[in-house]
Amino acid sequence: MSEMRPVLRTELCDVLGVEYPIIQSGMGGVAGPELAAEVCNAGGLGVIAGLLTGPDQLRAAIRELRERTDRPFGVNLLLLPEVWDPQPTSGLDDELVERVHAIANRLREDLGLEPLTERPPTVPQLVDAAFDVIVEERVPVFSAGLGDPGPDVTARLHEAGIRTVVMVTNSGDALRAVDSGADVVVAQGMEAGGHRSHFEMPPEKTLRDLGTFTLVPEVVDAVDVPVVAAGGVIDGRGLVAALALGAKGVLMGSRFLATRESRAPEVHKKRLLEARGEETLVTARLTGRYARVVENAISNAWADVTDVLPFPAQFLVNADVFALGESANEPEHLPLWGGQVIGRIADLPWAGDVVADTVRQAIGLLSDGIALRAEA
Ligand SMILES: Cc1cc2nc3c(=O)[nH]c(=O)nc-3n(C[C@H](O)[C@H](O)[C@H](O)COP(=O)(O)O)c2cc1C
Repeated sequence: MSEMRPVLRTELCDVLGVEYPIIQSGMGGVAGPELAAEVCNAGGLGVIAGLLTGPDQLRAAIRELRERTDRPFGVNLLLLPEVWDPQPTSGLDDELVERVHAIANRLREDLGLEPLTERPPTVPQLVDAAFDVIVEERVPVFSAGLGDPGPDVTARLHEAGIRTVVMVTNSGDALRAVDSGADVVVAQGMEAGGHRSHFEMPPEKTLRDLGTFTLVPEVVDAVDVPVVAAGGVIDGRGLVAALALGAKGVLMGSRFLATRESRAPEVHKKRLLEARGEETLVTARLTGRYARVVENAISNAWADVTDVLPFPAQFLVNADVFALGESANEPEHLPLWGGQVIGRIADLPWAGDVVADTVRQAIGLLSDGIALRAEA
């Protein structure tokens, strides 16, 4: 029935082969084939998350998604140096491992878990195998967070007919991504939920990321590929604002996190519906990389700690606490990823309706004109 649907096309649609300029963020633990397929079938770009996923699991998810949709889709990987080249955790400082476990042990005690002292395991390098799967399966779009695939991998993807989308937090990284061959750049403002997409992790004292309204036009002026706005967008108002800033589309994370098809634990979704944007904060202490979460017992327990382990060892130290928090269905002991925009999220719609409503509202604003006071 797509011929019955309203038309809203930008250059992004031509580059990605989609009907509408709306991308659903690949989100680790949240964006599986059921969510991505709904977004694709509604005309947006659905993306599955391949973060720390083995090749067989990734291939199975891609095939499941293909069974659910015949439209273009994406696969997302986080490409930070720590996953390209994982350092053995045997090299971690003993005293630091002891200190971080002391904090985690207090949380374990709250939950009735046994205290732990051992260093977290070294995570194998999964990125090379993931790219093999992406190329073999001829995935239509590859999307990267926290790093640049680089010219060689990008050329390999392009040879296989795969478009690349790279998320950045500043115009310098946008230029780097375009130099490597990125087809699309996502400009991620500081209000975004989940991990900050830094290519290099800034020290906390110099964490001065720009907001979406400032960053998007700066990146638009810096690069000659379509730019997508991310951070704070949940509806047609955000889409029209992004287009006015020169972006060719939007990427939404928090909005799709709070949908029926999202794999986020129910307790996480429920907390997002209640929480205000002012309750979110950026911390590197849950995973070793900066991420925006809703404040809770775990973010508070780590608040005054200065040194933590690198990604993903810091995440693994917290993993048993997060898993128990999730299975106990209580919101204080799991990471509540979410953007500043959660204060405006009050329902749990179907993901396809998010796309349709966003398009309808944007077309309404664009065609009826944005209210101006006509008389003097
Ligand atoms: C729960 C959650 C998980 C995320 N996981 C990823 C991920 O695996 N890869 C990625 O590139 N970005 C990830 N992001 C960041 C998003 O790509 C995006 O920048 C952000 O959600 C946009 O801001 P918004 O939340 O205000 O829409 C995640 C975001 C959330 C909320």
